[in-house]
Amino acid sequence: MTPAAAPDLIARTAAFVEEKFTGEGAGHDWAHIRRVWLGARALARAEGADATVTELAALLHDIADWKFHHGDEEAGPRAARAWLLSLGADEALIARVEDIIREVSFKGAGVATPVSSLEGACVQDADRLDAIGAIGVARAFAYGGHKGRALHDPQQPPVQHGTFAEYKSNGGPTINHFYEKLLHLRERLHTAAARRVADERHQFMEAFLAQFLKEWEGSDLQPA
Ligand code: ADP
Ligand code: NI
Repeated sequence: MTPAAAPDLIARTAAFVEEKFTGEGAGHDWAHIRRVWLGARALARAEGADATVTELAALLHDIADWKFHHGDEEAGPRAARAWLLSLGADEALIARVEDIIREVSFKGAGVATPVSSLEGACVQDADRLDAIGAIGVARAFAYGGHKGRALHDPQQPPVQHGTFAEYKSNGGPTINHFYEKLLHLRERLHTAAARRVADERHQFMEAFLAQFLKEWEGSDLQPA
């Protein structure tokens, strides 16, 4: 088979992933993958990363979630390899994409694995940017609603983790997820381009939380 050219590989992968993920739940639907793809592409341009590797890895970063291979850390890299082989992609490209998916999707033991390439940094940063800001707020409450969790419960304060790497959701109210994870993502970004985008999104979350707690207490109902 003649190897497919890069733009063709990306277009065909986007069509493949869109078809697989259309109709999945709000956490890992095609809309999330599309935002991570466009985000990673913009970061790659700003940082001078390889566009083909970055875009393919972004498109395939949650591929393991399509069949819900929980606990099988190799499911994502394996599915990505099989797909790219079917397109005639070359071995070096496939290996780079596989490595990024392995690093970005790894969640075993709650350990945050560092990324080993600039392209991996762009994909992980784009995935994290999609967990903060207005979209991040919406995704957190969609997740909490799916799990049947309370919005907020002052009797269950957020857990303070020693380090971000120890993060594991304790199944508490959704507001806790902001203090336990989402407010720490900005300082965990790898690229300067992502940090610039994160500033506004982070401030938006802080404003959202302040307003949420004000309304929760009813303190905005007091006469001036
Ligand atoms: P990804 O694989 O895209 O990095 P996750 O699978 O960790 O993300 O989470 C998907 C979405 O669900 C994210 O927006 C994340 O903030 C949200 N989420 C994960 N765990 C919780 C939780 N305990 N409470 C609220 N939202 C959560
Ligand atoms: Ni993702």
